Amino acid sequence: MAALHLTHRPRRLRQTDWSRRLVRENVLTTNDLIWPIFIIDGEGRREPIASMPGVERVSIDEAVRDAVRAQALGIPAIALFPNTDVALRDEAGTEAFNENNLVCRACRAIAEAAPGVGIMTDVALDPYTSHGHDGLMRGDEIVNDETVAALVKQALNQARAGCHIVAPSDMMDGRIGAIREALDEEGFERVQIMSYAAKYASAFYGPFRDAVGSGGLLRGDKRTYQMDPANTDEALREVALDLEQGADMVMVKPGLPYLDICRRVKDEFGAPTFAYQVSGEYSMIMAAVERGWLDRDKAMIESLIAFKRAGCDGILTYFAPFVAEKLQASA
Ligand code: PBG
Repeated sequence: MAALHLTHRPRRLRQTDWSRRLVRENVLTTNDLIWPIFIIDGEGRREPIASMPGVERVSIDEAVRDAVRAQALGIPAIALFPNTDVALRDEAGTEAFNENNLVCRACRAIAEAAPGVGIMTDVALDPYTSHGHDGLMRGDEIVNDETVAALVKQALNQARAGCHIVAPSDMMDGRIGAIREALDEEGFERVQIMSYAAKYASAFYGPFRDAVGSGGLLRGDKRTYQMDPANTDEALREVALDLEQGADMVMVKPGLPYLDICRRVKDEFGAPTFAYQVSGEYSMIMAAVERGWLDRDKAMIESLIAFKRAGCDGILTYFAPFVAEKLQASA
């Protein structure tokens, strides 16, 4: 049969590896990754998390080893999440202000052992409160302004311990401006703020709450402060407010179900934009991998390139060390 005369044959460019590489529009590199790490007390401990195969809670000495590994792999930054002893949790989240709490001790140890890695810390009270909420409760209400005052104290405590990026994940109104001002007043004008600007009230945080031990404690849900998954324009208003108040970088969370938000945020503001591929997204992929239904490496890379396509500058992902290893091997 004679060939059709077609002016355009898009398949022409897809025929070979060299040609596909030549016209590739987006690339994922190790520089795009932030590695979230769960911290526990003790020494030499690496404790598996049942709902997150391949992810562990680690003691500070082990977190230091992970940070050194991150540095060797070229992962720019790690994000620390403490699993605080239940005995240290109270209504006011007091342990968040302890200069020797898990996160602060981890910051100091990691900064010394892996000086080339950015250390990010989560600003929110949920790992420290007996009710599992990110803010302070008065009756059934999560009170805004009192919580902001507490978050400012928490952020300062983390900055004093040497973190480089504070990441408020609480969704209280006005916290970015309050934290920026307090940091500057204390001479921490170089500490960066990555705001969880558009953070949705999501079912996909379930495994994370297991990992930090706040899930069983959580009284009610977080819908009075985290966003309604049905909304888009509201995300733009939230991002605008955080940028006005001094956020250096903004984040959308969760990730894959919210790529439309990532794209709109990037197009509208052009600010450094990140997405958090959250615990439930990781667990979904890994559960299918464990059943032999998905190829881990392929699903991992494809899920992450999706964020680049959506305009993200980087991704917080539990796959970070695995991707970095894979990218290193293929370099
Ligand atoms: C706490 C916080 C959460 C996550 C990051 N910081 C959970 C929540 O808001 O309940 C979720 C991360 C994940 O699911 O991987 N404020």
